[in-house]
Amino acid sequence: MCGIVGYIGHKEAYPILVGGLRRLEYRGYDSAGVSVLHNGNIQTFKCKGKVSGLEALVSGAGVPEGTVGIGHTRWATHGPPNDVNAHPHTSGDGQLVMIHNGIIENYGTLREELTARGHQFNSDTDTEVLIHLIEDIRRNADVSIFEAVRIALNEVVGAYAIVVMDRNTPNQLIAAKKGSPLVVGIGREGDYYIASDATPIVEYTKNVVYLEEEEIAIVDVEEGFKLMDIKNRERTPYVQELELKLEALEKGGFEHFMLKEIYEQPRSVLDSMRGRLRPDVGRVELGGIRDYIKRFVHAKRIIILGCGTSWHAGLVGEYLFEDLARIPVEVEYASEFRYRNPVITEEDVVIAISQSGETADTLAAIELAKSKGATIIGICNVIGSSIPRATHAGSYTHAGPEIGVASTKAFTAQVTVLTLMALHVAREKGSITESRFHRLLIDLDAIPDKVERVLEKNEQIKFIADYYKNVSNALYLGRGYNFPVALEGALKLKEISYIHAEGYPAAEMKHGPIALIDEEMPVFFIAPRGGAYEKIVSNIQEVKARKGKIIAIVTEGEKQVKSMADHTIEIPDTDECLMPLLTVIPLQLLSYHVAVMRGCNVDQPRNLAKSVTVE
Ligand code: G6P
Repeated sequence: MCGIVGYIGHKEAYPILVGGLRRLEYRGYDSAGVSVLHNGNIQTFKCKGKVSGLEALVSGAGVPEGTVGIGHTRWATHGPPNDVNAHPHTSGDGQLVMIHNGIIENYGTLREELTARGHQFNSDTDTEVLIHLIEDIRRNADVSIFEAVRIALNEVVGAYAIVVMDRNTPNQLIAAKKGSPLVVGIGREGDYYIASDATPIVEYTKNVVYLEEEEIAIVDVEEGFKLMDIKNRERTPYVQELELKLEALEKGGFEHFMLKEIYEQPRSVLDSMRGRLRPDVGRVELGGIRDYIKRFVHAKRIIILGCGTSWHAGLVGEYLFEDLARIPVEVEYASEFRYRNPVITEEDVVIAISQSGETADTLAAIELAKSKGATIIGICNVIGSSIPRATHAGSYTHAGPEIGVASTKAFTAQVTVLTLMALHVAREKGSITESRFHRLLIDLDAIPDKVERVLEKNEQIKFIADYYKNVSNALYLGRGYNFPVALEGALKLKEISYIHAEGYPAAEMKHGPIALIDEEMPVFFIAPRGGAYEKIVSNIQEVKARKGKIIAIVTEGEKQVKSMADHTIEIPDTDECLMPLLTVIPLQLLSYHVAVMRGCNVDQPRNLAKSVTVE
């Protein structure tokens, strides 16, 4: 949420900043801005809308010169998206500018106090309050910019990742973090790159330092990099090498990141299994949880936490762990769990699922469960992000960067890792027969090729998308392992095409949604062969009797559903518990095509952000 970029060095700052903002735009895109410092002057450009709008504004006015600057792309929290609320924000005396990601919770009180001391505010933002507070401290205490930032951060309640630029200290940028991520790239030419994630940095340097909670970085082109904390203690920076590859951040010939990421799934599912799945020797090995496997085996309960698509993957995890490992599972929205005074014991194992590894509610729920003594296992995609650092152990999904706001390959990667984990635990616990275990290893190994075969249905799916592109509502129904897929299919459609869609367990249709069915209503049935097949056939008949339009995802060679449905999409057969890895693919493609046909911005749907770092 909100993209932050800063540069200080010997190169022109503006192209680096704007290039960085383009890479970060997936984090938020309702307004954008930059400030560049040159010869004691700060030039700021900011406007409502996307980074392209900012570029147009700047090119009309003349590109600012200068080798130090900051930039921001916003996802609004305090105050609507408009030119004034866009970042950077400036102190009253015009000496300081700041960009911020997060929420300053006590900004109301601080604003009142500062107003009483004569400060005037232009925007509705908490950020402007913080930069005025820093200005106020610096003026009254006559301290350095670092010290003023440090003192101010001791007064704020809430979350922040900030970068401050000072007209009077042109050789320095000050960056600080609490609750929201921030990373400093150490360039080869004595220059520094600051960003809310590594995507704008990777083309310049591989050496990065992820700031820890309440750390403040002073990056100085003359004196180098110094790390402090808000208690004024010096910290030792841990310089890591980025594994991220630049090509992974490009569209690679696809029209949208979402489509690229859908098509990457044969590869990303394989990457999630690489070195972990060994059908040849009949073994599953997840190195990251090796030391915690006994905790799983003796767990009285597993609690799975997540938000959005990660929560849907968690629901598949519930079926997997109960079915294979015979451990009771509860799947919780992190945002509800953290405020519910939940019963958590030391015998609980908590699995926290997050693509970004930064979701604020998931992080807070982890801290709560940890404080009660539970074992916390992470399943995350972004290496080095906050959630893997907050958990006891875990497994990365290794799906590669996901840029499209609608999550696709992260979902299949999460489900793959959950499957491996459930199999690993089941084997260790002895809750699965040898033959089923071995069969599942072989079936799982075949999934990437089968995903590829589903992707070959793209043209047919596009045709179906064209047929339904103008509907206002849609229902998604599935049972068992495919109930979470129904939820995920509905989420994909609504988030990128703005069509109202709901996912339901198919049998629940009779308790409400059936009232919505008429000849206008498309009903997507996820109906592959498996335990609930006969039941779902009955549900399809019920919709047919009410003249609903039926689109069914069925197993290759299926005839019964085909004879009833308006459209069917055939997918290869696999074990029931692996089906979500295949059935979700046509639904992702369908949502993609519908959104494109409706002229929606697929990679940046309105109001959404990829990484939700505020609660
Ligand atoms: C946002 C994203 C979703 C994602 C959810 C959870 O809503 O738009 O795609 O599923 O956050 O994010 P996480 O990074 O924790 O998986």
